[in-house]
Amino acid sequence: MPKIKNTFFNQSFISINQISSLSQITYLFKKADHMKSVVENGKIYEPLRGKLVSILFYQPSTRTFTSFVTAAKRLGAYVVDIHGMGQYSSAVKGETLEDSIKTINQTTAANAIVLRHPDDSSSAVAKSVSRAPVINGGSGKAEHPTQALLDLYTIYSKFKRLDNLNVVMVGDLKYGRTVKSLALLLAMCGKNNKITFVSPKELATPKTLIKELSKRLTIVEKTEFNSSLKTADVLYMTRVQKEWFEKEGKLEEYEQLKLKYILTRHMVSQMSKKSIIMHPLPRVGEIMQEVDDDPRAYYFKQMRSGLYIRMALLESILTP
Ligand code: CP
Repeated sequence: MPKIKNTFFNQSFISINQISSLSQITYLFKKADHMKSVVENGKIYEPLRGKLVSILFYQPSTRTFTSFVTAAKRLGAYVVDIHGMGQYSSAVKGETLEDSIKTINQTTAANAIVLRHPDDSSSAVAKSVSRAPVINGGSGKAEHPTQALLDLYTIYSKFKRLDNLNVVMVGDLKYGRTVKSLALLLAMCGKNNKITFVSPKELATPKTLIKELSKRLTIVEKTEFNSSLKTADVLYMTRVQKEWFEKEGKLEEYEQLKLKYILTRHMVSQMSKKSIIMHPLPRVGEIMQEVDDDPRAYYFKQMRSGLYIRMALLESILTP
């Protein structure tokens, strides 16, 4: 098999739309498999010795933050990580994102910057001024491209295919960024993929995205999800995102919508034995704990994929 080209080297990764071919996915997934073997066998693999990764988070995070920090350290890089940029950096004094990124370039001589920020365009803004490649660790309501890659890696690890998948996405499809990035990635992977979006009308997938996706694969929109359980390969649950309701002064609406969909063990019993249940997490009640022991519950395994994919991406960006 010919060697696959590393298209990620020295490039920012700010949008899932940058993945435009299956060979890019194959490249990353092969590397992620290697990272899995490194981690599981306790091997020392430090191709990033002497490099520095700066990890700047303006929004809360448990999974993305810890897995990026760990990924960089396991690969031997130095890490400057600031969790709480919104509270503890000069952003508090009114410094713009552009100035903060230019500053981090100067003070750390970073080889890459990982950014999480509440503005949809934050990663693009950071990329426009940064000397080092920028990796989007979650931008506003718009994008979470590394989450989409780790989600797809989890799906591929289970089904060994990226086409002919029936994926049901449930919950907050308006504010949630993970579902948007994953839907776009699934659309790139195969025209025989089908996505069923299940949400209350108030939290429906933005119409522009539906229009774009509909050109490339089968899309169905629903407000109830019992009827989709039986045929789903992947049930992708999400939390209703209180922080955006708060920002828009709509907490009453949040209270009405927050637990519209709750996955119970009884509901899971209607699903195929071969299906899987995913969730980007955190969950806040939409998957009952009684589901956790079911072999179809993949939401904790899914997080480990994040470590392997982020190691793969960092190595790809920082070495030819
Ligand atoms: N899935 C995800 O982005 O989780 P965190 O907010 O904990 O990073």
